[in-house]
Amino acid sequence: MSDTIENPFYGSPFPRAACNTPSVQYHLPLSADKLSSSKVIKGFVIFPSHAWANSRVPLLVLSRLRLKASLLVKPDMLTLTALVLSQNLPLPPLRYDYNALEPHIDARTMEIHHLKHHQTYTDKLNAALATLRSDPAHKHLAKMGIDKLLGHLDEAPKALQNALRNHGGGYVNHGLFFDGMSPDGGGEPTQPALVEAIQTAFGSFASFKSYFALAALELFGSGWAWLVYDQATAAVKITTTANQDTPAMQPGLVALLGLDVWEHAYYLKHQNVRKNYVEDFWNIVSWEEVAKRYDAAVSRGKAQDKSEV
Ligand SMILES: [Fe+2]
Repeated sequence: MSDTIENPFYGSPFPRAACNTPSVQYHLPLSADKLSSSKVIKGFVIFPSHAWANSRVPLLVLSRLRLKASLLVKPDMLTLTALVLSQNLPLPPLRYDYNALEPHIDARTMEIHHLKHHQTYTDKLNAALATLRSDPAHKHLAKMGIDKLLGHLDEAPKALQNALRNHGGGYVNHGLFFDGMSPDGGGEPTQPALVEAIQTAFGSFASFKSYFALAALELFGSGWAWLVYDQATAAVKITTTANQDTPAMQPGLVALLGLDVWEHAYYLKHQNVRKNYVEDFWNIVSWEEVAKRYDAAVSRGKAQDKSEV
């Protein structure tokens, strides 16, 4: 286990020793007016959810959070180091502003996609996980992490399987999608290992783009086009999933790049012309992130191979 965990708001790691699993420690920007609307009860700062309504961090179901705070005063801002004791998964923040991907994806689409769609998947997944945790026979499933749980859906109670599949998949897929784009993205990958994997699988980067675009365009209805790493063949390949199904549901598949082809991802700007949306997508793909995922997937595959010998 790593000695640190990632701070999902700013990316800087915290010492794991300071965190009490399943708690996660965050730094949150906290203005004085928000602080004044909080209450301190038994050493925990309780925030009313409305206090964060216009925040850059409208991320958590804050009415459910209990935050143990230590405060550092800065000129116009108090910085809160909070130990979040909630077991709820947070809505992952975007790494860029809503308008940062324009003109390829418009700001309004990004805002609705993140704050409404991804938030809804997050809330409904948290509700399903809470139900799972309350069931003594199945609560161990809630502890395995959502990626792993999606590969064990058949072990969950029947009544919860659809919610976990749809909202768990939606939660994971949107995180992969948003983090797989960058205002500094586009062009071709330059990372040698990823370049070689794409050339080996598809012949050239241009061929890969054609196959991927075709998969995205031919997918009927709502779903996703993916570049994945297949641990069984130690190679990359293209696949699609329907609705919010995710590659993690198939043993050995690791998502490297995902394109959301639900209409909510592009309809405001591209209307019904999915082809234009797919073409715009190439201008904002973060090959740096894709290469990072590829390297991690290859390393994980090698580690598993060794443990099975
Ligand atoms: Fe979406």
